[in-house]
This record gives sequence, structure tokens and C-alpha cells, in this order.
Amino acid sequence: AQRQRIAVIAGDGIGLEVMPAGIDCVTAVARLHGFTLGWEHLEWGSDHYRAHGRMMPVDGLETLAGYDAIFLGAVGVPDIPDVQTLWGLLIPIRRAFEQYINLRPVKTLPGVASPLADSAPIDMVVVRENNEGEYSEIGGRMYRGLEEESAVQEAVFTRRGIRRAARFAAELAAGRRGLLTSATKSNGIVHTMPFWDEVVAETVRAGFPQVRLRSELIDALAAGLVLHPHRYDVLVASNLFGDILSDLAGAITGSIGSAPSANLNPERRHPSMFEPVHGSAPDIAGQGIANPIGQIWSGAMMLDALGYPAAAAHLVAAFEAALAAGTRTRDLGGTALTEQVTAAVLTEIDSLAPNFTA
Ligand code: NAD
Ligand code: IPM
Ligand code: MN
Repeated sequence: AQRQRIAVIAGDGIGLEVMPAGIDCVTAVARLHGFTLGWEHLEWGSDHYRAHGRMMPVDGLETLAGYDAIFLGAVGVPDIPDVQTLWGLLIPIRRAFEQYINLRPVKTLPGVASPLADSAPIDMVVVRENNEGEYSEIGGRMYRGLEEESAVQEAVFTRRGIRRAARFAAELAAGRRGLLTSATKSNGIVHTMPFWDEVVAETVRAGFPQVRLRSELIDALAAGLVLHPHRYDVLVASNLFGDILSDLAGAITGSIGSAPSANLNPERRHPSMFEPVHGSAPDIAGQGIANPIGQIWSGAMMLDALGYPAAAAHLVAAFEAALAAGTRTRDLGGTALTEQVTAAVLTEIDSLAPNFTA
């Protein structure tokens, strides 16, 4: 097979610390499954911004288009406005490559305690619409500094955008427990949400008779995730609702540091991007204590998407075994450093090899 080329953007803060963990673990598992990946490091991020006034080169998106996948750490630093760093790199990548699905699995991990009293295992997937909705570029700030100062933003939802997110989520639910929960806010004066509800319901009813669809108001849903998270299977949500729900869902399984994500272009016309749910965590950056599981798990999702499901399952089993054996970072209640978690996962990759390779 052709060697797959991966664009690596470690970014900022703990992105720089968890990326080596992700690359080392993916490389090790790939070797045992008989393939290699070509990692190409792109030094894009806030340092690039400081040097050149841009997060990535002018032709950055054209460069990325030539890769099979993008592996990203995190971007954002306290001294540069997020509007520069995120709208200069992360959001343009998601949009240019039509990564309209942001897939964020959430499950209870062995040896990791939930902060919730209800300890029934959690196993769900957040399907976040990733290209439109509340994250629209339409709007602006007016009358800066004056008494009349104001800000306006239009949320933009399209039938095509809602339908393809709903379809992806319903297909996923059909292959799992068959329960799809759609996050909504159609009881207030939010014009977009009754439209979201209609298109989701239509899509599911027409194509997925075996899927049970429940629309849940976002406020009640947030409470439901805290009170009885084991009842949820697949959640489908707009861009902003999905963003919020995925940190909440990560936190109730122990820490957002473990949560992975895949920004998918399901048609595979463009590269997809794999990154942890968390950000650059400036509060702990530079201490070597960041939890690398979100990055490693995102690497497993990348292997799966690139057509190596056995290697992906092997990698997930390895980090689960490392956690079960007690190697956990501080956010998970342990004392291990990032590098110690990586070493433990690498050891488990080797010892589990007979179970996953022929
Ligand atoms: P954050 O996710 O970086 O951190 C939130 C909290 O979780 C912090 O207390 C942090 O220490 C902790 N945390 C996060 N990841 C962890 C890990 N792997 N191990 C241990 N603890 C971890 O969110 P924030 O602080 O709100 O944002 C910081 C910066 O990151 C901002 O500039 C923000 O815009 C950016 N951000 C970027 C991305 C991305 O690149 N995809 C995602 C979210 C936030
Ligand atoms: C995420 C992040 C981004 C988002 C920010 C940093 C723009 O929070 O990937 O979840 O809101 O999508
Ligand atoms: Mn987020």
C-alpha cells in the first residue's frame, strides 16, 4: 500500500506536549501492523503568527490539501486574541475541507472515576455539526468604544447542512443502541431551532425507521447528562451546542484531557483532521503533566479513518490497559507525567500485540 502522509500541526501550549505522545503511540502500533506513516511537521501556530503575522502561510490550505490526514494538537495562547489564532487556522481548515462532522466519542475509561454519583458506565458519541450554525461569519462589531457599541451575529442553518449531520448521526445510532438524541432550543425565540428539529426528524423518519429519535431541549439535556448519562447513545447537535456538550460529556467521564475528536469529510474528497477536544491549557503548559490520552485516542480515530481498524482497536486497548494499571495524569486523579503515560501505553502496545496482529 501507498504510504500515507500526515500533516502534523502541534500548535501551542500543551499541544506541543501531547503531540509527541500521539505520534509515538501511533507509530508504534503501525509498525506492529506492518505499515508506516509519513509524518510531516508544519510549524504553524502562535509563534508563526508572531513571526509572520499569520497562523499559517498564505497557501497553507493548499499545502494541507495534499495530505491524507491532519493531526492537530491545540492552538491558542493568552497573549493573542483567540479570534486571530482560531479563525486563522482551526476554523478555516474545518471549513475548507468540508469537515462537516465533528465526531466526539465519550466513554467511561477503566480505572478512571467519574465525578458523578451515578457510576453506571457511559458510552455515547457526540455528533457535532462542524461547518455552519452559530459559528457564522455574518455579523460584526459596531460603534467601537461608543455608548452605542453593539455586536451582532447571524446563525446560519441550511437544509443540506442539517440533513447531512442528521444522516451521519442516525447511521451511527443504527449501528449502536439505536437511540438518537437531538439537542434543540425550539421553545424560545430561536428561529433556527424549529427548522433544525424539522429537518432532523424528516431525515431520520425517512431513512432510519429503526432509530428512535428524541429531541431534547439543550438546557434539560445538559442536566440530563449530569443526572443519567448512561441513557444517552448518539447525540446530534449544532456547532455551538455540540461544542459545549462535548466538554461536558468529556468531564463526566473523568477529564476533557482524555476526549478525542475527528473532524471528518465523510466523502473523503478532502483530508480529515484529528485533534483532542481540549485546548492549549495555558494554565498547565510547560509542566509536563498534560494528559495525552485525548491526543492518542484521536490518533486511533485517524488510524480507523485511514483504513486500519485493527491498529486503531489495538491502540485503544493499549491506552485502556495503561489507565487500568494505574498510570494516570493529575487530571485523572493520578501523579504520572505525560511521558510516563506515553511509556506505559507503548509497553501495553507491545504486550497486547499478539491479540491484535495475525
Ligand atoms: P482548555 O481545554 O485548554 O483547558 C480547560 C481546562 O482543562 C484547563 O484547566 C486545563 O488545564 C484542563 N485541561 C485541558 N486539557 C487537558 C489535558 N490534556 N490534561 C490535563 N488537563 C487539561 O480550554 P481553555 O483554557 O478554555 O482554552 C485555552 C486556549 O485553547 C484558548 O486559547 C482556547 O481558545 C483554545 N482552545 C483551542 C482548541 C483547539 O485548538 N482545538 C480547543 C479548545 C480551546
Ligand atoms: C473545539 C474548540 C473550538 C470550537 C474553538 C477553540 C474555536 O472549543 O474544538 O471544541 O469551538 O470549535
Ligand atoms: Mn470546544
